Amino acid sequence: MDLAIALNSNSPLPLYQQLYQELRQAILNGRLSPGVRIPSTRSLAKSLSISRTTVTQSYEQLLSEGYLTTISGSGTFVCAQLPDDLLHSKPIESSQTITRSPVKLNQYGMILSQTENLPRIAAPDTEINFRYGQPAIDQFPLKLWRKLLSRYFYSNLSWLDYSTEPLGYKPLREEIASYLSRSRAVKCDTDQVLIVNGTQQGLDLIMRLLIEPGDMIALEDPGYMSARLIFQTQGAELLPIPVDDSGLIVKELVNYNSKPIPLVYVTPSHQFPTGAILSLPRRLELLAWAQQNGGLIIEDDYDSEYRYGDRPIPALQGLDRSDSVLYIGTFSKVLFPGLRIGYLVLPKNLVAIFARAKWLSDRHLPILEQQALTDFITEGHLERHIRKMRSLYEQRCQVLVKALNVHLGERVTILGEKAGIHLMVKIHSHLSDEEIIYRAAQMGVGIMSAKSQYLKPDHTGEFIFGYGELTEQQLAEGIRRLAQIFLIE
Ligand SMILES: Cc1ncc(COP(=O)(O)O)c(C=O)c1O
Repeated sequence: MDLAIALNSNSPLPLYQQLYQELRQAILNGRLSPGVRIPSTRSLAKSLSISRTTVTQSYEQLLSEGYLTTISGSGTFVCAQLPDDLLHSKPIESSQTITRSPVKLNQYGMILSQTENLPRIAAPDTEINFRYGQPAIDQFPLKLWRKLLSRYFYSNLSWLDYSTEPLGYKPLREEIASYLSRSRAVKCDTDQVLIVNGTQQGLDLIMRLLIEPGDMIALEDPGYMSARLIFQTQGAELLPIPVDDSGLIVKELVNYNSKPIPLVYVTPSHQFPTGAILSLPRRLELLAWAQQNGGLIIEDDYDSEYRYGDRPIPALQGLDRSDSVLYIGTFSKVLFPGLRIGYLVLPKNLVAIFARAKWLSDRHLPILEQQALTDFITEGHLERHIRKMRSLYEQRCQVLVKALNVHLGERVTILGEKAGIHLMVKIHSHLSDEEIIYRAAQMGVGIMSAKSQYLKPDHTGEFIFGYGELTEQQLAEGIRRLAQIFLIE
C-alpha cells in the first residue's frame, strides 16, 4: 500500500512526530479504515526516504495509544475497535477545529470568573520593589535545610508513599502544638492541629465546611484581600467592620443585629494591612460576642512572630473558653512562602470533619518537607531563625521609617511600625494613586496601593510598603527616589 504522507524536514517538529500525526489523522478521517493492514516499518521508511527508526517510533506511539495493533507473524493493523468517542464522532479533517458550546460553570465558578486580582497580580518589575508579604528568602539557611531533607531522603521510603496520617505528620503537629503554647499561649493538643497547604487552604476548608451561600461573614475593613476573595467566591455576604489603632472596632459588630453572623475573620496580632494590634479589652469583647451569639472567629496569626518592643498579647485562641476560635498559622513569613505549610488549630469537635475534608481535597502535604521541618523546629533552628530575622526586620523597619520621615516628612503618616514586615503609609498629595504608582515606577520604585484591601475601594492615598526583602540601602534609596516624584504636583 502506498501512503501519501507529507513530511517537512524544515519543521521544528521531529519527523517521527509529524509521521505520527499524519497517520493518526488518516485513521481518524477514515483514509486508513479499521482493520486495514499498514506498511511494514521497512517499506514505509523506504517509500518516504526516512530512517526506519523514525517510522518505528511513530508506530510505537500509535500502538501505545490504541490506534494500531500488531498480530504476530501477520503485521501491523489499524485497530478494529477505536475508542468509542472517536468511532461515533464525525470524521475530522486535519484542518478542522472543534467548537463546543461554552462549559456551564456552577455558582462558585461564575463568581470566580468575575473576580478580579486572581491569581495574585505580580507587582511590576522595578529595581526597588516594596511589594508586601515577602520575607527575606535570601536569609533562609539553605544548607541546613538540604541537610535535613537528605537525612530522611534515603533513610526509609515512607515519604514516597501515601501518608497514613490525615491530620498531617504527627511529630510535626507535636512540635507545632508545643511551639504555639510557648510563643502564643495557644491551648491545644497535638490532635487539634491540622497541617494545611498554607493559610489559604485553611480558609478554603473553613468555607467549604461551615458556610452556605448567603451566610454573613464579618471582616476587617481594610483587610486581607485573599481571605475576602475566598469568602466572596463562596457566595457569602460580607459585613465590613472598620478598624482603628486598636484593631477591629468590636462595638460595630456587637451593635449589628439585622442578621446572624456565623463567622468573623480577624488578624488580631497584626491587623492586615494597618498593622494595628487588637487590644486586650477588645479581644475579650470579641470572645464574649462569639460566646453570646454562637459565632465563630477565624484568627489569622500570619506574622505575629515579628513584634518590635511591646510584649506579645496572647492569641485569642488561648483566651477563649467556649471553643469559638479557629486559629490559623503559617510558615510563609517565618520561613518561606514556597514551603506551603500552615496549620489550623481546631476546636476538638471539628477536627474529624476537617481531616476528612482535607483528605478528600488533596490527601496531605509532601511528607519529606514535613519531616525536615519537624527537625528544624526540634533542634531549635526555627526559634533561632526567628530571633535573627526579628532583629533584621526591626532594623529594616527603622531604616524605612527614618527615610520616610527624612524625605517625605509631613507628607506621610506611618502606621503599623511595631510589628510585621510591612508598613501602611498614608501619602498626603493631590496626585492620584495611579499617578503616584506610575511616577514611582519611572524612578525604578514599585509601591502598591492599599485600595484593593478595602471592601469598597474608594480609599485613596494609602499604600503598603513591604520591607522584608529589601536591604537598608535599597530602603533608603527607594524612599529618596520616591520623594522626587512630589517635586512637581
Ligand atoms: C493576612 C495574611 N494571612 C496569611 C498570609 C499567608 O498566606 P499563606 O500561608 O497561604 O502563604 C498572608 C500573606 O501575605 C497574609 O497577608
